[in-house]
Amino acid sequence: MSHPPTGHPQTPNPPRHEPDPPRDLVGIGIGPSNLSLAALAHPLAELDTAFYEQRPGFDWHPGLLIDGATVQVPFLADLVTLADPASPWSFLNYLRARDRLFPFYFAERFHIQRAEYDAYCRWVADSLPGLHFGHQVDAVRFNPERDVFEVDFTQLDSDGEAEALGRTYTKNIVLGVGTAPYVPDPLKPLVEAPGVPVIHAADYLAHRETFLAAEHITVIGSGQTGAEVFLDLLRHRPAGHEKLHWIGRSEAFAPMEYSKLGLEHFTPDYTRYFHALAEPVRDRLVTSQWQLHKGIDADTIAAIHDELYRRTLHGGWPDAVLTPGVRVRTAGRIATTKVELHLEHLQQNTRSRLTTDAVVLATGYRERPLGRILAGLDPYLRRDSAERPRIDDQFRLVLDPSVTGAGCHVYVQNAELHTHGVGAPDLGLAAWRSATILNSLTGKEPYPLPGRTAFTTFGLDPQVQIPPARQATRTLTPLVEGR
Ligand SMILES: Cc1cc2nc3c(=O)[nH]c(=O)nc-3n(C[C@H](O)[C@H](O)[C@H](O)COP(=O)(O)OP(=O)(O)OC[C@H]3O[C@@H](n4cnc5c(N)ncnc54)[C@H](O)[C@@H]3O)c2cc1C
Ligand SMILES: NC(=O)c1ccc[n+]([C@@H]2O[C@H](COP(=O)([O-])OP(=O)(O)OC[C@H]3O[C@@H](n4cnc5c(N)ncnc54)[C@H](OP(=O)(O)O)[C@@H]3O)[C@@H](O)[C@H]2O)c1
Repeated sequence: MSHPPTGHPQTPNPPRHEPDPPRDLVGIGIGPSNLSLAALAHPLAELDTAFYEQRPGFDWHPGLLIDGATVQVPFLADLVTLADPASPWSFLNYLRARDRLFPFYFAERFHIQRAEYDAYCRWVADSLPGLHFGHQVDAVRFNPERDVFEVDFTQLDSDGEAEALGRTYTKNIVLGVGTAPYVPDPLKPLVEAPGVPVIHAADYLAHRETFLAAEHITVIGSGQTGAEVFLDLLRHRPAGHEKLHWIGRSEAFAPMEYSKLGLEHFTPDYTRYFHALAEPVRDRLVTSQWQLHKGIDADTIAAIHDELYRRTLHGGWPDAVLTPGVRVRTAGRIATTKVELHLEHLQQNTRSRLTTDAVVLATGYRERPLGRILAGLDPYLRRDSAERPRIDDQFRLVLDPSVTGAGCHVYVQNAELHTHGVGAPDLGLAAWRSATILNSLTGKEPYPLPGRTAFTTFGLDPQVQIPPARQATRTLTPLVEGR
C-alpha cells in the first residue's frame, strides 16, 4: 500500500481534532538495508509501513560504479533470498522480469557487477509501494501522551531544496541511514577549497575526466576503493606516462580475507556470539579483524599487477609509485593549481613531501552519526561506556521501559558494528537482519530463520543445536565373491 506522507488509508477524512493513527513501522533511509526490509515487509499485509529517503531515487554509491567492478558478495546475498528464497523480490526474479535468465545462467557469474546490483535494487525500489524518495528525516521524538513516535521530515525538490515540511506517527522506527564518506581532518580544507581537484572517492566518476587530464594524480587509501580507483586510472593513462602515486597507511596492500571458514564471521552464528561478548572484547575484536572488511580483494590485486606488468612488456617500468605504510600528516595548496602532501613513513619514521595536481581520497566511510535525528530521544536512550547506543540482540536500541513498555521500538540496520560486529555493513547479512526485525516487530515468525549457519562453533557454550545425525537409509549392495 502506498500512502501519502501524512495520511492513512483506513481513515480517509479523519476529524480535524484527531491526529492520524500511527503506522506500524517507519523506515529512515532507503539503501540496500532498508530496501531489503521493505521488500520482506511487503507481503505482510497487516503491517502499515512507510520508508523515507532523502535522495530523489535509489542510488547505490553512484560515484563508484566503475565499469567492471563487482559486488563482493555472491548474488544470493540479494535483498531477500537468504531469508526467503521464494520472494518475488529476488535477483533471479529480477532477471526473469528483464528476460535475462538464460544469459545469466551461461555467464556463470556468482559475483555480479556493482552496476547490475544497483539496477536490480532500482527495479525493487520502483516497484515496491510505500517508499518516499526526496524526503529527508530531520527529527524523531517520543510522545508519551499517545505512546507513539513523531517523525518530522522535509520534502525536497529535484535540486534538493526544501519544498514542504511533514510529520508522521509510528509505533516502530527502523534507522537505515548507512555511512558517509570520511575525510581525515588535515585534508578537509583541501576538499573544501576551489581550484585543485581534491575529491573523496565517493564522487570519483563525476570527476573522472578531469582527473584523467591532470598531469600527476595521487590516490590516498589502500582499501578496496583506493585499489579500484587506482586500477581505473592506471588503465586509462598512457604507457610510460602514467604519473600516478598510490599511498596507503596500512603496512601492506593487504588482501581481504576470503577463506571459507573466514567468511563464517559473516553469519548469524558469529553475530550472536559477538553480541554476547563483553564490550571491551568486542571493541578489541572489531579493530583486530580489519582484514575481514578492509583490505583489497585478490582479483583486484591481480588485475593491478597484470596491468602494471603489461606496461613493462616493451621495456621500462610504468611511471607509477605504490607505497604502503605512509600516513598523510597534512596538506596544503601551492599557488592555485597544485597540492603538496606532507607524508610520514610509519616504519622508517621518515618524512617527505609530494607535489601533485589531483588527489582522490579513498579514505573510507564512517557510520552516519545518529545524534541529530535522535536528539529528541536522548532522555530515553541507554548508552554503553563509550556513550554509544546500546543495541539488543533483535537490533533494537535499548530505550527506557516507559517507551518499550508502550510497544514502541527503534531498530537499527548498519549502525551496530560496536554491538554486532563486522557483519553489520555486509550485504550478506541484510536479508537475515531484516527478517529478524520483522519477526521481532510482529511477535510472530513470518520468516523462520536457520538455527545453525556456520561449521565453526564460536565459543565453548554454543547457542546452536547440532541436529542428530541422519540415519543411513541406503541399503548396501552385498559383495559377491569371485567378481
Ligand atoms: C563503495 C562501497 C562499496 C561497497 N560494496 C559492498 C559489497 O560489495 N558487499 C558488501 O557486503 N558491502 C559493501 N559495502 C558496504 C555497505 O555497507 C553496503 O554496500 C550498503 O550500502 C549498506 O547499505 P545501507 O542501506 O545500510 O546504507 P547506505 O547504502 O549508506 O544507505 C543509507 C541511505 O540512507 C539515506 N539517509 C541518510 N540520512 C537520511 C535522513 N536523515 N533522511 C532520509 N534518508 C537518509 C542516505 O541518503 C542513503 O541512501 C560497500 C560500501 C561502499 C562504500
Ligand atoms: N567492489 C566493491 O564491492 C567495493 C568497492 C569499494 C568498497 N567496498 C567496501 O566498502 C568498504 C569501504 O572501503 P574503502 O576502501 O572505501 O574504505 P577502507 O577500507 O576503510 O579504506 C580506507 C583507507 O584509507 C586509509 N587512510 C585513512 N586515513 C588516511 C590517512 N590520513 N593517510 C593515509 N591513509 C589513510 C586507511 O588506512 P588504515 O587502514 O590505516 O585506516 C585505509 O587504507 C569496505 O568494506 C570495502 O570492502 C566494496
